[in-house]
Amino acid sequence: MESKVIPSHVGFIMDGNGRWAKGKGMPRNYGHTKGANNVDLVVSKCFEKGIKVVSLYAFSTENWTRPKQEVDKILALLHKFLIKYTKKLITNQVRLVISGDLNVLPEELAVLCREKMEITKNFEGKILNIALNYGGRQEILMAVNNLLKQGKTEITEEDFMRELYTANLPDIDLIVRTSGEQRLSNFFPYQSVYAELYFTNAYWPDFNEEELQKALDWYAERNRRFGGV
Ligand code: IPE
Ligand code: IPE
Ligand code: MG
Repeated sequence: MESKVIPSHVGFIMDGNGRWAKGKGMPRNYGHTKGANNVDLVVSKCFEKGIKVVSLYAFSTENWTRPKQEVDKILALLHKFLIKYTKKLITNQVRLVISGDLNVLPEELAVLCREKMEITKNFEGKILNIALNYGGRQEILMAVNNLLKQGKTEITEEDFMRELYTANLPDIDLIVRTSGEQRLSNFFPYQSVYAELYFTNAYWPDFNEEELQKALDWYAERNRRFGGV
């Protein structure tokens, strides 16, 4: 059964890789590998169902506090994903946006990110937005500092939004967070002020088409009022 109202922009807080692995008596990094392997399926299903923009929380500005071998593993998986996924982005005409400060990433990864964004920048219709070294507060400060550098003393909402990583992307309609946690953890605060929030206990490696459909069915039942009546 297809949902009646399909959100234009869905954000996924892909949480629970570590606990998923722990539950299987495996190291946390095994969970990250499984979680990374699950991305293709979920993103493909989203586009199939008519969602236009998919945002994924891959690595937060706070995730640097994790043990180095875990950080290295997550960044290595992202690197691998970007290389493997390029063909698919081009075949399916998906524009890739990477949201986050690339300057402090390992040089090779930053280069790859810029290259893949450049190659796909003219595709319209479907957008995959990966939040990598992303933090909402960092993003807002970056936008403000950019505007100050431009000498602006007064700005509009449009001026501000143009400086965000997500410039020209629609606001987030639905945020899905896996693993049972009910918080946003610095995920696109400006873009999600009117997002519907869906929480599931499923860990990210177990989040599949059936889980996605449940979230979309739930979304279709929401009455979005945007402050009206
Ligand atoms: C989400 O899974 C992946 C990233 C933050 C990169 P976690 O690694 O946070 O898994 P839990 O929350 O510890 O189970
Ligand atoms: C949010 O998950 C970040 C990503 C999914 C990449 P965390 O696991 O880092 O969030 P907290 O620490 O539970 O808030
Ligand atoms: Mg977590």
